[in-house]
Amino acid sequence: MPLRAVIGAQWGDEGKGKVVDYLCQSADLVARFQGGANAGHTIFIGDEETILHQIPAGILRPETHCLLGNGMVIDPLGLVQELRMLTARGIEVQGRVHISLLAHIVTPFHKLLDAYREGALGKRAIGTTKRGIGPCYTDKVSREGLRLCDFYDRTSVEARLRDKRQSLINQGIIKIAELPQVDAELQAFQEAVDFILPFAENTIELIHDYLQADKKILAEGAQGTLLDVDFGTYPYVTSSNTVAGNICTGLGIGPKAVTEVIGVFKAYSTRVGSGPFPTELNDEIGDYLQETGIEFGATTRRRRRCGWFDAVLGRYARQLNGFTSIAITKLDVLNGLEHLKICVRYRNGNFPSIDLSQAEPEYITLPGWQQDLGQPRRFSDLPPHTQRYLRTVEELVGAPISLISYGRERNQILEL
Ligand code: IMP
Repeated sequence: MPLRAVIGAQWGDEGKGKVVDYLCQSADLVARFQGGANAGHTIFIGDEETILHQIPAGILRPETHCLLGNGMVIDPLGLVQELRMLTARGIEVQGRVHISLLAHIVTPFHKLLDAYREGALGKRAIGTTKRGIGPCYTDKVSREGLRLCDFYDRTSVEARLRDKRQSLINQGIIKIAELPQVDAELQAFQEAVDFILPFAENTIELIHDYLQADKKILAEGAQGTLLDVDFGTYPYVTSSNTVAGNICTGLGIGPKAVTEVIGVFKAYSTRVGSGPFPTELNDEIGDYLQETGIEFGATTRRRRRCGWFDAVLGRYARQLNGFTSIAITKLDVLNGLEHLKICVRYRNGNFPSIDLSQAEPEYITLPGWQQDLGQPRRFSDLPPHTQRYLRTVEELVGAPISLISYGRERNQILEL
């Protein structure tokens, strides 16, 4: 029963899409277990860029099936766009996309509330993607949410949406002048739900059939460990558990089913949105990483904050997820730098015992490599200083490197 998981080990945007795209060459099913349209997984095939927000990256491999698990919060409007975009590119989605009946649905009201709450927080705003993720999970936990299966009873759902609309008008969150636009969105939303309902099914049965038949399953994480609602930099986090422990509840399987957990790290660090970032570089090296790595959020196009690799948080991520190996991405972005730093400890204590915004990072400095990485076929083909950097990361994090991505192309990846 091989179930491999790919988990973001930092603050998201680690390049999971490309790693999943590579690994699902040998997967029968790729499953998302948490999050929603806040994710943005970018895959390049030649010059063609595909950004997926909800459908697992496995959809780009013709034989692979894709599961959107009960732990996700589904945005029907976004999902319809994604399904149409894939169909327009000649990618078959019928019969290959399976959405859990139990997944919660993001309504236009959740998006409104997300923007409203962010506005109300002022300077303390989280910097969310405004995709309605937080309000949808809030409704789920407070037992007021709408699951995909609830839409089979149209009359009841419509009554609940009408009540919600009225309650938001009463609270002044929806202004009378905005009503025509809100109602148009609601109409489009209901049409989108009708479009995706035929993809709904009992995915628990489906995944257990795959497990039973000994087929290969890949669990695709979204966001990253440091955005986990329990273990991340709370409150500057997303609203789901992003760590490997949530694979089980987000898909409906037992812990023994997970056989391998691959943590994906960028060769440096980035973060979008607010919140502490001990190794952030507010200087020309930070600008260099931002520009060379083209560090813009895949979902919101916001500029990503950049910094050195933080091995303290890397170790923490390894412990939380039980990484059996790690993947290092965007290694080529470091090519031109003279020296590279890695944070090895905080002088004033460990997270979460200390507030991460107060952390005092201590670094080691390693020599950089001022050369292109070429087309390495094995680890020893990499420049000596690159090898040293990677071995240091591996040792400090405490897990072996199994994959190295050194360019945006599909084939610029080295499996160890
Ligand atoms: P939310 O998930 O939209 O509620 O946003 C909460 C925080 O998580 C914000 O800082 C977002 O920028 C961040 N975030 C959410 N999804 C992603 C992602 O896929 N990559 C990177 N950051 C993300």
